[in-house]
Amino acid sequence: PADTPATLRELGNLHGIPLYKSFVEGWPQVEAFQARPDDLLISTYPKSGTTWLSEILDMIYQDGDVEKCRRDAIFNRVPFLEMKAPQIPSGVEQLEKTPSPRLVKTHLPVHLLPSSFWDKNCKVIYMARNPKDVVISYYYFYQMAKMHPDPGTLAEFLETFMAGKVAYGSWYEHVQGWWEKKHEKQLLYLFYEDMKKDPRQEVQKILRFLGKEVAEGTVERILHHTSFQEMKKNPAANYETMPTTLMDHSLSPFLRKGISGDWKNHFTVAQNERFDQHYQKHMAGSDLSFQMEA
Ligand code: A3P
Repeated sequence: PADTPATLRELGNLHGIPLYKSFVEGWPQVEAFQARPDDLLISTYPKSGTTWLSEILDMIYQDGDVEKCRRDAIFNRVPFLEMKAPQIPSGVEQLEKTPSPRLVKTHLPVHLLPSSFWDKNCKVIYMARNPKDVVISYYYFYQMAKMHPDPGTLAEFLETFMAGKVAYGSWYEHVQGWWEKKHEKQLLYLFYEDMKKDPRQEVQKILRFLGKEVAEGTVERILHHTSFQEMKKNPAANYETMPTTLMDHSLSPFLRKGISGDWKNHFTVAQNERFDQHYQKHMAGSDLSFQMEA
């Protein structure tokens, strides 16, 4: 399915991290980005529930007003900091035009985040997801989102992922790097699996972190509007308004399954053993742990 030439799909390199070449080209503007003290940064490794968390936060910012949250597509309501593609405004350009208080999305590893966010002491919400579900979700995303190289077979893609040779690099370094920041910064670290199990409790955590109080009915509306079923049919949340030259939802929808443990439908027993071994080696010494199902 190559309406995008293979050379454009090859990943470039941003300070040692594999990344889309257009993003690498746009890096000087990102590095110089001027954060504002009331910016809220939503940070994730790809496929960890970024869109879900973004919709929850926009609902909180709009006081549970569903209609206001339909004002534009999620990728415009929550601009993607390091995004750069031909013919459309970059993430930085979008952000410069966004009135405060802004929600900002990034997938950058912690050491590459523009320093302005730390200088201005911005709040950060990080969401992590177990790597087995991330790699499966990423495998489908590589196929439907045209800026990616051909992922090959799942067996091949598992190796690419474990070696950190996918866009944004090593999952292991990403989740651990942001976890360490929690000790020194205003950072709320959430897990996709917790959000699946008890979204009400996680939304309450977010509200406390933001120092925001809302009516009980508002929490109800937030939970309903951000459920997988509601988001899947919401054109402002499901990415279907992206040009099909960039994303082909007929290959795999952006809101694909939205569950924990789908990896069990994909990994062989041998692949699972190899993945577990690699995981244990790369997470050794960290007090960070993941639920591989919910
Ligand atoms: P799956 O491919 O496993 O279905 P991101 O937004 O970071 O790219 O993450 C995408 C993943 O989050 C996809 O996972 C998608 O289905 C899932 N997702 C999006 N909205 C969700 C929701 N409201 N509830 C549960 N999962 C959701």
